[in-house]
Amino acid sequence: MPIIAPSFLASDFLHLADECEMINKSEADWFHLDVMDGRFVPNISFGLPVIEQIRKTTTKVCDVHLMIVEPEKYAEAFKNAGADILTVHIEACPHLHRNIEQIKSLGMKAGVAVNPHTPITFLVDILHDIQVVNLMSVNPGFGGQTFIPHTIEKIKQLRKLIDERGFDVLIEIDGGVTIENAAVITGAGADVLIAGSTIFKSADPINTIARLKRA
Ligand code: DX5
Ligand code: ZN
Repeated sequence: MPIIAPSFLASDFLHLADECEMINKSEADWFHLDVMDGRFVPNISFGLPVIEQIRKTTTKVCDVHLMIVEPEKYAEAFKNAGADILTVHIEACPHLHRNIEQIKSLGMKAGVAVNPHTPITFLVDILHDIQVVNLMSVNPGFGGQTFIPHTIEKIKQLRKLIDERGFDVLIEIDGGVTIENAAVITGAGADVLIAGSTIFKSADPINTIARLKRA
């Protein structure tokens, strides 16, 4: 069964404690927390103090997705705020290997996120150093967008590369994941389904999580 990671970007910020409690009760595995800086992406979300509060509510894995430039300036602060996995964007990091080493030296798992236009081949020389790849299936910056179909081809390519070389890396899919497309995504080889709107905007989020888990 896939790992389910609800994206809190789509949660009700006025009732964040209730949303955390609901996800804790559900079959969801991870908390997916999206940090945006208004520079790497054209939007600003939430940051360290919010993640610090969310962390106190849960023992589930906190998967922090940084859509920011110069992530090295904040890696230690995100560790202190409670991140278990820290993911940076390949497009935002000219010294990606250095960023990954820093994240791991702080005691977190390291992830690399790739935008829809970034080829899978760009990951070849970093895959042995990381634990997670976040394959963006929309352009990062906003929730509620439509899944880009070409992502399926990229999942298959990445799955093949990981399996052939024996890397220990999880494939996350982020953006536009729905009950309808979840089976195709996992069938192509994804390990982690990140879903914001599909979960938090549904009438029965706990049931929606259970359905994604079994898709
Ligand atoms: C987008 C974020 C996603 C987003 C997904 O930049 O990385 O995690 O919350 O939202 P949905 O599932 O609504 O497409
Ligand atoms: Zn995300």
